Amino acid sequence: MKGVILAGGLGTRLYPLTWATNKHLLPIYDKPMIFYPIDTLVKAGIKDVLVVSSGPHAGHFLRVLKNGKELGLNHLEYAFQEKPDGGIADALALAKDFADDGPITVVLGDNTTDADIKKEVSSFKDGAFVFLKKVPDPERYGVPEFDSKNKIIKIEEKPKSPKSNYAVTGLYIYDHSVFEIVKKIKPSDRGQLEITDVNNEYIKKQTLNWAELNGFWTDAGTFASLFKASSYWANK
Ligand code: DAU
Repeated sequence: MKGVILAGGLGTRLYPLTWATNKHLLPIYDKPMIFYPIDTLVKAGIKDVLVVSSGPHAGHFLRVLKNGKELGLNHLEYAFQEKPDGGIADALALAKDFADDGPITVVLGDNTTDADIKKEVSSFKDGAFVFLKKVPDPERYGVPEFDSKNKIIKIEEKPKSPKSNYAVTGLYIYDHSVFEIVKKIKPSDRGQLEITDVNNEYIKKQTLNWAELNGFWTDAGTFASLFKASSYWANK
């Protein structure tokens, strides 16, 4: 299993902080944000990682992550997303050659968790796997709708009337068919290739499975969530 961290986008919700550097290099307590998803991958046994970035500060990653050895990685590669806000699935498309026909575990660069995903990673066979977390504000996220057997029948991106109290977190496991799916999907109303549309294609094929993320989880792309993440890790 290889790992992919998506750390593109412009981080506009964190202006003026992101005028100076990329969002994923801002501190969550005592570490740059991107150290947390890297640590999640390393703890799951994934040490071969691609970081996808974009925007004016993409070069800063090299100074901070170097060759990844200090962070426990065996191999670290970088890719550059030309359209900085092309969408999460647009950034993921750049991992096709790196994945080399194998499965990938994908973590959004602004997600931080202390959950252990090793079991799901090592037992993954094919299809797609998403991790869910109960949240008080599901309308900020991708939100699953379940049937009576707790199977996900649809995911809606930032719905006005959420069909459940769960967020689809930014941790995903995909088989290699994800790259065919990404080629098929069309930009959303906000002009992005959405990861939710990718996941809905797996649902149509009945090959999407899920588990609840066992531990603390938040994204850190807004001032409120960045503060929440920093407070959690400072206390821990
Ligand atoms: O955090 C979980 C949520 O992340 C999911 O519940 C949503 O379904 C998913 O769409 C996403 O929502 P956000 O609106 O919070 O995504 P955001 O635009 O903040 O992007 C999250 C990360 O993805 C960002 O830190 C870097 C990466 N990204 C994003 C975009 C738009 C890229 O690498 N390239 C991009 O073009």
